[in-house]
Amino acid sequence: MSASNGLPRTTCIVGVQWGDEGKGKIVDLLAAQADVVVRFQGGGNAGHTVVVKGEKFVLHLIPSGILHRGSTSVIANGVVVDPQQLLEEMSNLRARGVKIGKNLLISDRAHVVMPWHKLMDQLAEGSDAQKIGTTKRGIGPCYADKAARKGIRIADLFRPDYLQQRLEALVSEKNRVLAALYGAPPLDDDEVFREYRGYAEKIAPHVGDALGFVNDAIDAKKRVLFEGAQGSLLDIDFGTYPYVTSSNSDACGIPAGAGVAPKKVGHILGVAKAYCTRVGEGPFPTELVDDVGERLRSVGGEFGSLTGRPRRCGWFDTVTSRHAVRINGIDGLVITKLDVLDQFGEVRVCTAYRLDGKTTNSMPGDCERLARCEPVYKSFPGWKSDTSKVTSFRQLPKNARAYLNYLERELGVPVVMISVGKDREKTIRR
Ligand code: GDP
Ligand code: IMO
Ligand code: MG
Repeated sequence: MSASNGLPRTTCIVGVQWGDEGKGKIVDLLAAQADVVVRFQGGGNAGHTVVVKGEKFVLHLIPSGILHRGSTSVIANGVVVDPQQLLEEMSNLRARGVKIGKNLLISDRAHVVMPWHKLMDQLAEGSDAQKIGTTKRGIGPCYADKAARKGIRIADLFRPDYLQQRLEALVSEKNRVLAALYGAPPLDDDEVFREYRGYAEKIAPHVGDALGFVNDAIDAKKRVLFEGAQGSLLDIDFGTYPYVTSSNSDACGIPAGAGVAPKKVGHILGVAKAYCTRVGEGPFPTELVDDVGERLRSVGGEFGSLTGRPRRCGWFDTVTSRHAVRINGIDGLVITKLDVLDQFGEVRVCTAYRLDGKTTNSMPGDCERLARCEPVYKSFPGWKSDTSKVTSFRQLPKNARAYLNYLERELGVPVVMISVGKDREKTIRR
């Protein structure tokens, strides 16, 4: 199935941890050889950083493949699209010389983030009831409405009469909820109609049959890359529920999120940091709330790409990572930010948990137990040298190689790429 340029025909990039593993950098790198790059879930909650010759781009809704002229970027049906945020992102990219034309395709089946979704996300986070620490981009409420069959899809924006009827009914219902729960002032359905018809006009040249396009590309043996957002531990079914995002943010999300048959999803690459981070609430067994955690945050620049929030930092966790390897069917691991550990005298890895007096290496399915898990660590001597200029696995310091070899043995998956810096070039292929 391998294509002549080394990239399997369909490849998926997913996060192994709680997001921000460096997926954007890896997608951008592989997109150079891809014909199509597809986002299949999530929305404007993502922040994917790509650094090209020192110049930094942060992508939210648009696939990280957009920086390569030769590929088409697809926002598939499983994504929830805030057209206002999308247009802003498009105009920011254009202002920096990125061409956006026929190379961006938005599925007419994708759901639209409406003003009440953003409001409800913000207001719910502001009330103490159940704080998740969301990105406040309206993601949860939009997916909730999709499941409740109260959503608006991109195609609906182009059917004015139908849209108006839907808005009349929906806005009056949402106004009642907003007033009752939060005492919020009402939205005006005519205003929403005008605003969203305005967005529709602007995105119209990019809207189409993404499902047909992606399947035709696969059938024509083109190279298709699926770009996961968030990470496997934020998956709504397999993550640390309820402290998750509202979509299937692992490879399980591809068939439903892009309309691609499961058997057509080929090679799966899992991206993990050489340590671990998390933004927002929820259990994180290896979290370090001491100066080691502080040092990981400052050396790793661990502040949210979207919200700027400080990320919680801790050691690599093989228990949660094995879980991610299993649910994704990961074929190869990409370990990023190895350089961040360069000056640490000791590096630790969680090999198992202690829970209720027992040692276990499987991840509990609920947060009540996960929050009580105490990590069992294996300690590795640091390598105390600069890996950021290393270009081959062999040149890495012996202790760094021992660390990576241990991770691949523990997870049962080969480490196929190692990232040692932000830039495209700072990547070791094995
Ligand atoms: P994503 O959401 O998975 O795409 O990851 P983010 O872009 O949110 O966060 C990853 C951060 O780490 C970004 O600031 C990247 O520029 C940076 N980064 C990626 N790979 C490396 C690496 O190997 N070394 C260092 N030092 N930084 C990296
Ligand atoms: P990328 O694609 C890290 C987290 C939020 C919160 C939870 C739910 O850049 O890796 P949501 O707004 O989705 O309802 O928030 O999920 N979260 C992320 N954390 N990286 C992301 O995306 C995230 N997207 C959402 O912090 O805990
Ligand atoms: Mg991110």
